[in-house]
Amino acid sequence: MLILNGIFYFSSTGNSLYLSKRIKSKLGGKIIYIPNYKGNASEFEKIIVVSPIYSFGLPVHTYNFLLNVNSNSKIYVVLNYGGMAGGADVFTYDFAKENNKNILGVFKMLMPENYTLTFSTPGIYNKMILKKSLKKIDDIILKIKQNGFFIPKKVKTNEKIYFTNKSNWHLIADDFSVKKNCAKCGKCVEICPANNIVFENGEITFKDNCVSCLGCYHRCPQKAIVYKHRNKKGRYINPFINENEIGMNF
Ligand SMILES: Cc1cc2nc3c(=O)[nH]c(=O)nc-3n(C[C@H](O)[C@H](O)[C@H](O)COP(=O)(O)O)c2cc1C
Repeated sequence: MLILNGIFYFSSTGNSLYLSKRIKSKLGGKIIYIPNYKGNASEFEKIIVVSPIYSFGLPVHTYNFLLNVNSNSKIYVVLNYGGMAGGADVFTYDFAKENNKNILGVFKMLMPENYTLTFSTPGIYNKMILKKSLKKIDDIILKIKQNGFFIPKKVKTNEKIYFTNKSNWHLIADDFSVKKNCAKCGKCVEICPANNIVFENGEITFKDNCVSCLGCYHRCPQKAIVYKHRNKKGRYINPFINENEIGMNF
């Protein structure tokens, strides 16, 4: 039996989970965290993918999910980003089409920025974005409910930058280090969607599969993970969700 909506999300700091929950509250369905999902989603009549934009394209897990998803199900994609979408909606639509997916629409909407390794956005600005986001996601939900086609307006995409950055994401963990205040709680090991963090000789160690989601950086309870030894304190987690829920199904 087909289950109506599969709401598949990737998220490291909760924005996409927050939007997924809103979609479920209005349309019903099952919320599933992409990295822990093994199937091709053929049990769902309609698939709604909720994902951040990474480097004008898609995070590794979202990209692979779309590539392998069942071709018969109707697919909508809801992208969220911190300030510069760079044609990621067009890229996603074309990518799905080229791979013979039944893609009906791609939407994009602004959410607070979480690529904050080198700069931070003021809290007041994030609050404003979050306030506006509710109306935007509700408009998108209404469109998805109508089952129509929502093909993004053609704009220039940045595929070259995307694929170059994607191939370099695994290197980012080389610039992470762990400060002495690390409580060795194992949170980063547990939440890493790429299984890239392990305890080695009792120390937190980064391997070579980083997907650059920055979940470990933002969600470390001690703020002990730092980038390029900078003493930057600012971390982001969506204020409307319980951080422990990121990665769970609902
Ligand atoms: C590696 C990486 C790359 C990103 N690239 C972009 C980008 O190209 N454009 C943009 O506007 N935001 C970019 N962002 C910001 C996220 O898309 C945005 O903050 C999103 O809402 C985070 O969703 P999440 O909380 O569900 O993980 C990037 C974030 C990361 C971690």
